[in-house]
Amino acid sequence: MKKLISLTLAILMLALCVSATGCSSKVKTLADVKAAGELVIATSPDFPPFESLGEGNEVVGIEIDILNAVCEKLGVKLTIKRMDFESVIPGVTSGKYDVGVSGITITEERAKNVLFTVPYCLAQQAIVVTADSAIASKADLENKTVSVQKGTTADIFCSAQGYTVKAFSGNTEAELALTSGKVDAWVIDDLTAVEMVKQYNEDQGKEALIILPEAMTNEPYAFAMKLGSDELCAEINKVLNEMIADGTIASLFEKYGAPYTSPVN
Ligand code: ARG
Repeated sequence: MKKLISLTLAILMLALCVSATGCSSKVKTLADVKAAGELVIATSPDFPPFESLGEGNEVVGIEIDILNAVCEKLGVKLTIKRMDFESVIPGVTSGKYDVGVSGITITEERAKNVLFTVPYCLAQQAIVVTADSAIASKADLENKTVSVQKGTTADIFCSAQGYTVKAFSGNTEAELALTSGKVDAWVIDDLTAVEMVKQYNEDQGKEALIILPEAMTNEPYAFAMKLGSDELCAEINKVLNEMIADGTIASLFEKYGAPYTSPVN
């Protein structure tokens, strides 16, 4: 009997051990990142001017510049992993990547699964339609079909409004759904809308797409980290707060020709 009890106990301890180490990967500290010599970020580079692909297919944009500055301060190199937006947060929660860098809006729901850094800017959702569209405002979207990027706040917001939502893994596909007439409107974050619409209209040689003047929602952008990584997050926040206060963030928006809205008034 004694043997049976100790065997059961041993098995129980082993199971506990496996679940403790196997299921939840360890949270990283600044020392861990320094030892690794790199900060690994997860990004969906279909979101200009925050992150997109440059001429040489490298990832460029405001957030990449911000993270490069953060890495410089921490004394590590920046390693960029690309993926669809819907994989960014799960990749961070599983501990595969150190920071999610994807124009991520802070939401209460997401904050249950990730630790957000301080917000560094504000954005809104914009409505994009074709030049010949009868849709002129948010009210006209009722009973209409809209395209969005899967898992984004556009997806969440439009679904909550009761619109018929067609969600795509990439922003380019969401745009194509509109230009090919599969949806009535495309809902996307305002600054990215400006960049992508400008590019599309340039390619078409005409004002094929327009952004409606009525913006929806109010969304602070931040970077997402694994829950529990408070120490590393505090170090990153220190750099971000400095960059907000000394105007570096604002000047990065200017570099990319984008208007800057500060999250602190
Ligand atoms: N701000 C929106 C959100 O958090 C959209 C972000 C999309 N980002 C991207 N890199 N495609 O849901």
